[in-house]
Amino acid sequence: MKRKIALITMAAVMALSVTACGGGSDSGKSASNNSSGSEVANKDKPLVWFNRQPSNSSTGELDMTALNFNKDTYYVGFDANQGAELQGTMVKDYIEKNIDKIDRNGDGVIGYVLAIGDIGHNDSIARTRGVRKALGTGVEKDGDIDSAPIGTNADGTATAVKDGTIEAGGKKYVVRELASQEMKNSAGATWDAATAGNSIGTWSSSFGENIDVVVSNNDGMGMSMFNAWSKDNKVPTFGYDANNDAVAAIAEGYGGTISQHADVQAYLTLRVIRNALDGVDIDTGIGTEDEAGNVLSEDVYTYNEEQRSYYALNVAVTADNYQEFTDSTKVYEPVSKQLDEKEHAKKKVWLNIYNASDNFLSSTYQPLLKNYDDLLNLDVEYIGGDGQTESNITNRLGNPSQYDAFAINMVKTDNAASYTSLLQ
Ligand code: BGC
Repeated sequence: MKRKIALITMAAVMALSVTACGGGSDSGKSASNNSSGSEVANKDKPLVWFNRQPSNSSTGELDMTALNFNKDTYYVGFDANQGAELQGTMVKDYIEKNIDKIDRNGDGVIGYVLAIGDIGHNDSIARTRGVRKALGTGVEKDGDIDSAPIGTNADGTATAVKDGTIEAGGKKYVVRELASQEMKNSAGATWDAATAGNSIGTWSSSFGENIDVVVSNNDGMGMSMFNAWSKDNKVPTFGYDANNDAVAAIAEGYGGTISQHADVQAYLTLRVIRNALDGVDIDTGIGTEDEAGNVLSEDVYTYNEEQRSYYALNVAVTADNYQEFTDSTKVYEPVSKQLDEKEHAKKKVWLNIYNASDNFLSSTYQPLLKNYDDLLNLDVEYIGGDGQTESNITNRLGNPSQYDAFAINMVKTDNAASYTSLLQ
């Protein structure tokens, strides 16, 4: 008898959700139902972490509890080490190719300054290491290259870096990290472009013509330094993200950037949610072509099952190829086909961006998400944080039962539990 009632209830719920889909608009009503029409507890709803991987901000160790929150939990990011190595190599190649003019004061020392995004963020750490490794300025610490900021290092005596050497044009040059600093503002926001713009002012007044190259963990900070100083002083500046303004600036002397394939990441972020809600194989429309023809090839992403993580692959963007990257908000063509709403009913997703003023997330990632949400029939509510406190964001997840799935971009990578506790 009990079973019968359950079945009847289920049929009624299904009928309701079918009607809701037919109407095509009432995603609120079906919010607590998954595609099979059954009630889903918040703790069982799909959860995707993106851009900031749940991990210990001191050791980098992945937070496997957060990554295994439920069977439909994933992380979407990109291969930080592969990208970091590309960034380092891009800077080194540029120096070698332009050796006849790079050493501005001709003292035989190629000096660079480095803007660090967030000392506790895996991406930032990897990029600092990648640059130091390629330029020979890295020092080993606990089996890896030290990624600590050095403050200033005019005479080469800092302990977290050492002087490297580059041989080019038949001459040996010293490479020195003259200064590096975490770009955090007084309110606590990291990757802070304005702080980087101020720092280049301070650095250029102390180091002047000793600065031959400017490197940044991202384009937001890189462009701020370029606009404030390096463009006028014709000092090549390198960033990361391939935001539109940075790619355009390559024509004006910006040295180069790295595309972290945000077009692939934004797709993956929403696609894994779509698949989990549809109850289909997670690889659908990813490694396996879906019925609309969406599929990704292996040269643009990897999936690490143990880490529950999708990683997009990076591409260097320089004067040689930047014309192909002028629109960072364009959907990736192989995954740009609309899903049929009859088969993939509208679902409601809660998604936050840790800092509404983060250049990469606001000018590249979010516009891409907005392009994909329609294609995947997801009704996404976008929440922008202040980049400083988790509660500024979590306060706006007052009623998780209204949503079918969650996509989360934490302020601090250690703080996954501030979100998952709301879903318990
Ligand atoms: C991007 C940065 C951004 C950060 C935010 C990184 O992957 O390269 O530009 O500030 O993510 O978490």
